[in-house]
Amino acid sequence: MNDLFELTDRYSSNNYSPLKLALTKGLGAKVWDVDGNSYIDCVSGFSVVNHGHCHPKIIKAFQEQSEKITMVSRALYSDNLGQWEEKICNLANKDKVLPMNTGTEAIETAIKIARKWGTDVKGIEEGKPEIIAMNGNFHGRTLGALSLSSQESYKKGFTPLLDNMHTVDYGDVTTLKSLINENTAAIILEPIQGEGGVNIPPEYFIQEVRNLCDQHNVLLIADEIQVGLGRTGKLFAIEWEGVEPDIYLLGKSLGGGLYPISAVLANEDVMNVLTPGTHGSTFGGNPLACAVSSAALDVLIDENLIERSAELGQKLLNQLQLIDSDLIVDVRGRGLFIGIELNKPAQTYCLEMIKQGVLCKETQGNIIRISPPLVIDEEEIATVAKVITEVLEQANH
Ligand SMILES: Cc1ncc(COP(=O)(O)O)c(C=O)c1O
Repeated sequence: MNDLFELTDRYSSNNYSPLKLALTKGLGAKVWDVDGNSYIDCVSGFSVVNHGHCHPKIIKAFQEQSEKITMVSRALYSDNLGQWEEKICNLANKDKVLPMNTGTEAIETAIKIARKWGTDVKGIEEGKPEIIAMNGNFHGRTLGALSLSSQESYKKGFTPLLDNMHTVDYGDVTTLKSLINENTAAIILEPIQGEGGVNIPPEYFIQEVRNLCDQHNVLLIADEIQVGLGRTGKLFAIEWEGVEPDIYLLGKSLGGGLYPISAVLANEDVMNVLTPGTHGSTFGGNPLACAVSSAALDVLIDENLIERSAELGQKLLNQLQLIDSDLIVDVRGRGLFIGIELNKPAQTYCLEMIKQGVLCKETQGNIIRISPPLVIDEEEIATVAKVITEVLEQANH
């Protein structure tokens, strides 16, 4: 079978329906398709490629480590796990870290920690700990993550899921208060909802959640898997609210765009509920992952990507907010994480932007999520703004 679309569709399970666009190369904020057309990437593999495609320093770390040793089981020590752990713990200001591989595994880990902390530390009866999540969340596709989801279509056919999970509207303090009881172990939220549509929390909401957690001895878990590590112009998106969570969850760009690694970070009083044999992952914290992630964290800081995201993101947001189109309901964002909400399905417009060399994707049907690599330059930002403006303004007439 020669046609790559046919070949892929022939053998792929049917759980995705990709656009007929095949990429073969990426560098910085640009990607190329198999026909040689180039695009400015405003998807970044859903915020995985924050450092830009094929960042030379991250590639170098990958190459060097892969010629040395790639895998050491956690039954032994490796010579770079501790170094990576120190780096990420210092950045997050937490005592301890637990490395996993994918975002959804970090979520599973957090659920386990919350339940165990609930029984061992808070004194909740075994089998009773409850967790509260937000409507419109996206925490992943494994059964624990799905149990936190409010989206019925994600869950249908996959039940029974985990018990004792609740959801409230993002921003609804009154209902949240009414749900908290002596069995509540944790509240989990994304400081900005990504898949949900670049939803920025109402002012003071997350501060109120933090206060409720303190009052009722409940853990606050921040899912920073998509919005963390500079994406929103702060190291962690929850910094916008001036709040520190008890548990940070990281993934996606933690692996520098080329290796899956996720992490759960917490202080000792929380993390120490796990003891040998209670949790683990074969690949979690392997030397290759640590080398790549360590380089990715260095690049994030050394190349000022967080500040860059804040500055260029604000410029792009300002320009997009000037678009004169009846289609637009709202343009919102923080750093290089921007949502353009339309009053119509957004796919047609995304396809038009792609034709004009800007790779965009809609979420929730009607919201265009703009999240280019944080290394994008001013000229590329100007092109992105121009193409999006033209497509949405032309559609007006
Ligand atoms: C906020 C958030 N949490 C968790 C996940 C799940 O991560 P993964 O797909 O790596 O399992 C995602 C993925 O998009 C996400 O956006």
